[in-house]
Amino acid sequence: MSGHGAAIPMTARKAGPLSGVAEVPGDKSISHRSLILGALAVGETRIIGLLEGDDVLDTGKAMAAFGAEVINHGGGNWSVHGVGVGGFAEPDHVIDCGNSGTSVRLIMGAMATSPITATFTGDGSLVKRPMGRVTDPLALFGAASYGREGGRLPLTVVGARAPDPVRYVVPVPSAQVKSAVLFAGLNAPGKTVVIEREATRDHTERMMAGFGAELEIEDTDEGRVITLTGQPELKPQTIVVPRDPSSAAFPVCAALIVPGSDVLVPNIGLNPTRAGLYTTLREMGADLTYENMREEGGEPVADLRAKYSPNMQGITVPAERAASMIDEFPVLSVVAAFAKGRSHFLGVKELRVKESDRIAAMADGLRANGVEVEDTEDTMTVIGTGTVPGGAQVATHLDHRIAMSFLVLGMVSDAPVSLDDGQPIATSFPIFEPLMVELGARIERDV
Ligand code: S3P
Repeated sequence: MSGHGAAIPMTARKAGPLSGVAEVPGDKSISHRSLILGALAVGETRIIGLLEGDDVLDTGKAMAAFGAEVINHGGGNWSVHGVGVGGFAEPDHVIDCGNSGTSVRLIMGAMATSPITATFTGDGSLVKRPMGRVTDPLALFGAASYGREGGRLPLTVVGARAPDPVRYVVPVPSAQVKSAVLFAGLNAPGKTVVIEREATRDHTERMMAGFGAELEIEDTDEGRVITLTGQPELKPQTIVVPRDPSSAAFPVCAALIVPGSDVLVPNIGLNPTRAGLYTTLREMGADLTYENMREEGGEPVADLRAKYSPNMQGITVPAERAASMIDEFPVLSVVAAFAKGRSHFLGVKELRVKESDRIAAMADGLRANGVEVEDTEDTMTVIGTGTVPGGAQVATHLDHRIAMSFLVLGMVSDAPVSLDDGQPIATSFPIFEPLMVELGARIERDV
């Protein structure tokens, strides 16, 4: 079992107003895919604005272990000299994916149709997460896997020597599962077909097409049908990574609830498969505007302006929107505590298998800080009153988004909110603390 460092207890106190410009880091999903697709292309891919969080750095190390040359040129500029589809070498050590489900699931897919063997592990959170959802479809290509009970890490994948193309209906709404199958399909001859009943983030499809793979996408009664033609030669690209809408959620949501705030969060990717939070906040009555809407690198991008919004109302988030904001429910539940009335989040059971059980982690932490919450296996309800007593310490369960969400709560609650461990924030948003402090937040490390 791995880890990236010692626990960092932290506290956030009432502060404000928050004001200024919040330049959040690059998109995590696109950063992972840039490194993996760069490693599978022939030649040099350049990446500008890579997220240098621990999760993505773990993907970079893994790509080097599979034979790609991954170079950090400084200032978020990276290059990857790829080995081509089917060109992965067998790593000579265990691949440690730290806290990152995206790394392990996408990379297992990318190596599963090559005649090599690799063993994967991760930290105390990742070793609890289900991998059968990925190894099951990889078995259809002919890959074998040997892991702990329930398909848990550490886990060894023996890649298929003569992979068959696959037709697979993804049983859970998961971009990681969809992407693992598509990455495996790259090195299978013929057409691999992936069907998702609910659309999830589509960066893999967009980026594979951008690297020159042949993909057809059709919306049918069965769902979204993605057909990939295997064994393409991927051509290296220059990728400008948009800033991460999931990281932007924290300064945006903090600005909406800290009195007097006005924060601009520029260059945010607003791919519709990722933007559900922003639609929801606007429906709640948030003063949130999109400025300078444009398209960059095939992705819609805008500057977000968030202003203090004292009159937000509770809302029902329909199940069909859940996938487009799956990582944003923790911080939305904090906003919901300050809105008036009940907020219902439907169809959210996937939250139970994230870096932590996010429904349990948020419900426990919110209740400890005086917020009424109801939860079932697949739903969460927050009863907002407009004020939160605060004053409790919460457990972050090695989950970056739980940590950042409760620091946002502490910026507004009557008494401060503490975390047992803010260290996981470095997995996705390493500059969260200085960025929020620069805007006017009061966050301290407790020594
Ligand atoms: C991701 C997909 C989502 C998301 C994760 C990143 C991706 O996970 O929660 O943070 O980059 O594909 P699931 O596929 O498990 O929903």
